[in-house]
Amino acid sequence: MTADGFCLWFTGLSGAGKSTIANIVVDELRARGHQVELLDGDEVRENLSKGLGFSKEDRDINVRRIGWVAKVLARNGVVAVTAAISPYRALRDEMRGEIHNFVEVHVATTLEECEARDVKGLYAKARAGEIPEFTGVSDPYEAPLNPEVELVTAGKRPEESAGELVAWLEARGLAKTTSSA
Ligand code: ADX
Repeated sequence: MTADGFCLWFTGLSGAGKSTIANIVVDELRARGHQVELLDGDEVRENLSKGLGFSKEDRDINVRRIGWVAKVLARNGVVAVTAAISPYRALRDEMRGEIHNFVEVHVATTLEECEARDVKGLYAKARAGEIPEFTGVSDPYEAPLNPEVELVTAGKRPEESAGELVAWLEARGLAKTTSSA
């Protein structure tokens, strides 16, 4: 019986804050005594998914690879945290069906905010036509219809959003409480 394995599946636009919030949650869960692994989209694309592009087919392969690793981790008591755009609803639902204790976390930062911040400068390039198939600009993002957790980030610090998620996990008995760490 793997009592405390679960998967936090972050989804949202590029620059929405998925990795930033995920990293804070990872630190908090580790401090509470969980074993945690973070599968970050950018890092996965440098390793497990090196060479893949951004067509629907390649994104689906990328998401299935991340999902497979998350599955084997979560079923062995690890908290698997994934942070990839994962733009297609059907693929996320497929992962939900495969992964033990799947928690979909929608980082609901609007396109306008992501584009205004443009942390990596990619939206400007995408608008200039220099990056084809860019999510939200020239490629779809299918927002979750009924995610377990919706993090509305507008006007909040990443720590606040991370706190909301940890509180949700604690209320459902998934996250250990500070005192039981
Ligand atoms: S996913 O769609 O397959 O889930 P993933 O999260 O791994 O995407 O990678 C997204 C990151 O790749 C973005 O944050 C951005 O830095 C970079 N990127 C490069 N080209 C694109 C593109 N065409 N669309 C979206 N992101 C892109």
